[in-house]
Order: sequence, then structure tokens, then C-alpha cells
Amino acid sequence: MAISLIERFRSRLPVTDATPVISLGEGSTPLVRAPRLSERHRAEVWLKWEAANPTGSYKDRGMTVAVSKAVEEGAEAVVVASTGNTASAAAAYAAKAGIRALVLQPAGAVASGKVAQSRMYGATILEVRGTFDEALAAARVLAERGTHALVNSVNPYRREGQKTAVFEIVEELGGMPDAIYLPYGGGGNTTSYGQGLSELGGMPARLIAAEARDRAHTVATAIRIAEPAHRESVERALKTTEGALVTLDDEAILDAWADLARSEGLFCEPSSAAGIAALVIEPPQPGATVVCIVTGHGLKDPAAAEAHAPAPVPVDPDPDAIAEAAR
Ligand code: F0G
Repeated sequence: MAISLIERFRSRLPVTDATPVISLGEGSTPLVRAPRLSERHRAEVWLKWEAANPTGSYKDRGMTVAVSKAVEEGAEAVVVASTGNTASAAAAYAAKAGIRALVLQPAGAVASGKVAQSRMYGATILEVRGTFDEALAAARVLAERGTHALVNSVNPYRREGQKTAVFEIVEELGGMPDAIYLPYGGGGNTTSYGQGLSELGGMPARLIAAEARDRAHTVATAIRIAEPAHRESVERALKTTEGALVTLDDEAILDAWADLARSEGLFCEPSSAAGIAALVIEPPQPGATVVCIVTGHGLKDPAAAEAHAPAPVPVDPDPDAIAEAAR
């Protein structure tokens, strides 16, 4: 039976017996060895498959804590500005808690799988005529008015939940990896990993944060964020861990994304491949153990896959025609 993230890490989270545990069985995601990437980069490369979370992205780790605390504090509705994944997670955990979710998403910039999910979970979805940053600013104001609890990663409970991925990695590897590579949008997740590493103490893994060069227009819509809310804490986390910031062209992200599916059998959304793309630019030390965080599922963004992968070939139900077409 899947243990909830809050139960697994209770002693390291800001919860008490009075906190209702709103869980969908998040966390405890697979750490998958990547033999082909390992060979290519002359390192031990592991992939933390965060798409295995209940809504298909790592956001569930933070959302179980944020929504549980919101309910404990009496909230009847949550609000979130999102490029899609946080929205789906907020909508799902709000549904589980029996409270309302208000989603503010930048119009026309959210992948279709994410919108479909949030709709199905029953969230109120508003398409904001503006950017993610503008939607976040509006969400903050609404939260200050007291009608909604804000569950963006500026909410510290989100980061508390997200830091647990580091604990799982270290537990499973039986020690600290040399480096952790992850996508960097708003920076909440990089900040959370920095927090997890510092709570563990000792020599931390180097954090390698991978951002899109053209932040405002990247094809990687999940990380299409011009002004990262956590820029300063990301800089601190990179400094403390002697890590690095890697800036990627869209082409590098898309290459790593397509290659991951074909060579390792993991189909993620484009943004989620940023950490893997960064292996090329900030190569691991020879023989180092490194973990790339694969943050969200490929089915979140079917249009990206359809635009990049070869289309199926039509054929009649005739064995000879099929044999011919399959050559
Ligand atoms: N990967 C995925 C799949 C994401 O959805 C996000 C952020 C990130 C990486 C970057 O994480 O922002 O903490 O640096 N998605 C947010 C959202 C912005 O609204 O779903 P970050």
C-alpha cells in the first residue's frame, strides 16, 4: 500500500496530530538507473521519475502539505497561478479535501493535458489575459484579501513537501549523490532541494539548475516564467552547494526530451528534460553519481509529442501489407 508523503516524512514536516492528512498517495517515486545516459556522460546517471506522482508531476509533494495545512487553518478555497502542473495538483488535492480551487492560468500557454486534468478535478479555471507573473501577482492580492489560501510555491508548506524528494534520493542511493540536475522555472523546487540538502547536513550534492534561455517564450511551457519568484534563494542554494546555473536553448531541451523517451523509455514533458539537457553543458565528474529530476509526465503535453515524433503509418488489416510497411 502506498504510504502518504506526510506519514513517511512526518517528523521532518510542519504537521501535528491536528493536521488532517490530505493525500493521494504521492511521493516514494522511482529512482531509475539510466544506462545509456551513464555511458554517454561517463557517470552514474539516475532519473528521479516524479511523473509517477498521482497528478503526473512533482507538484503533489508540496500540494499534500499545503492543502493539508490550509484545511487545518480553516480554508474553504485555494488559489493558484500556474503554467499548468501546480494547477492540476491544487485542483486534485482540493477535490480530495472537499474545498474549492481557483486556477489562474496564462491564456493560451498551458499544455492541453494539464487543462483537461484541472477541469476534470472541478477547479474554477480562469484564463488570464497576461503572463504567469501577472497571474501570480493577482493571486497574491486575492490571498491577502482572505478569501483564498495561496498554494503557489511562495507558500512555505509547498517547499516543505517538495524537499522530501532529496530525502528519498539519499535514502535510496545509500548516500549523497555528487550532483542533482533539475529544471528551474520560478525556482521554488530548486529552493526546496536546497532546503532538503541543508537539513540533511554534511557535504551537499551540487545543485545544477537548468533554465530556458528565452524564459518568456520557451517551448517548455511549464517553465515559461520571465521573472522567477525565487531567484535570490536559488542563487543562495547554488552557492551553498557549489552548484551551477545552466541556461539552455529550446533546441537542447527538445533534443534531451526526445532522446530520453527513445533511449531510456521515459516520456516526460519538454520542461522536465531540462536537467538532462544540462548534463551536456555542466558535465558530471568522471564516475560521479548524479540524479536528474524528471518533473512531469509526457502525456501532460500531447501536442509537443505530436509535433516532434513520427506519425503512425496507415495500413490495411492485411498481414502482407503490414509486413511490408513494418520493414
Ligand atoms: N518542471 C515542471 C514539469 C514544472 O511544471 C515546473 C513548474 C518546473 C519544472 C519548474 O519548477 O517553478 O519550482 O522552478 N511549474 C509551475 C506550475 C510554474 O505552475 O506548474 P519551479
